[in-house]
Amino acid sequence: MSAHNQSLALITGATSGIGLATAQLLGERGHTVFIGARGAENVASTVKKLREDGIQADGTVLDVRDDAAVASFVRTAVDRYGSVDVLVNNAGRSGGGVTADVPDALWHDVIDTNLHGVFRTTREALNTGRMRHKSRGRIINIASTAGKQGVVLGAPYSASKHAVVGFTKALGNELAPTGVTVNAVCPGYVETPMAQRVRAGYAEAYDATEDEILTRFQAKIPLGRYSTPQEVAGLVGYLVTDAAASITAQALNVCGGLGNF
Ligand SMILES: NC(=O)c1ccc[n+]([C@@H]2O[C@H](COP(=O)([O-])OP(=O)(O)OC[C@H]3O[C@@H](n4cnc5c(N)ncnc54)[C@H](OP(=O)(O)O)[C@@H]3O)[C@@H](O)[C@H]2O)c1
Repeated sequence: MSAHNQSLALITGATSGIGLATAQLLGERGHTVFIGARGAENVASTVKKLREDGIQADGTVLDVRDDAAVASFVRTAVDRYGSVDVLVNNAGRSGGGVTADVPDALWHDVIDTNLHGVFRTTREALNTGRMRHKSRGRIINIASTAGKQGVVLGAPYSASKHAVVGFTKALGNELAPTGVTVNAVCPGYVETPMAQRVRAGYAEAYDATEDEILTRFQAKIPLGRYSTPQEVAGLVGYLVTDAAASITAQALNVCGGLGNF
């Protein structure tokens, strides 16, 4: 059993991969974790599993592309557990292809999910979640090394993540005097269901097998392997601590050396 504290952490997209590992880590450290994702069954089963592990967990269905859903997600968390102390904007999607062939719908959905979703949820946490009135808080956006360097066949994704890094820097500077820090965590290649879908997409685009794509990607990573969701969550866990109070408006990589800036 973990010792529960009064801190409420909202984590979007926490039924899988990096978001799930983050919910586990913050929950084990005593935060109340309130999670959201589109799949209702996955939200329910994830909350159940976290509770079985002794974590104070709850959650609702959430689509970060939907204003009303975001409002309801934050409102429900606040009504049940009080104001928001930590927001982890993790929900995101991959998406790309040959840029000249990218359809409007794909472009807009990647930007809506990865960029507008971060803005929507952050604004809601600042207002309904009362973070704008606090003298301490943490906003952590899961961006990507693709938010710092261009990814071939990933223009919409790369554009959305660069924008998340810019949003993070601007809001971090704006809120710095308040004690609410805002940072981006930029994973490189992390072994999650999304990573598997990405490899499948490149295998099709390059007429290669998924194993060949994995070998090619691993060769690009100085560490020689994908990072784990737990390694990404570890940095989120550090940024949440008091020791990280002077880290704000930064975009920090967890990438096995893939990104150098
Ligand atoms: N894996 C990597 O290599 C990697 C690298 C760099 C950055 N990232 C970033 O890390 C974050 C998490 O990625 P992951 O690899 O852990 O992905 P994942 O395993 O596919 O998990 C994504 C999570 O987000 C939820 N989600 C997706 N769209 C959503 C929406 N519109 N509204 C609310 N929730 C939504 C999914 O649940 P539902 O589908 O049920 O909604 C799921 O819980 C993303 O922002 C991604 O861009 C990942």
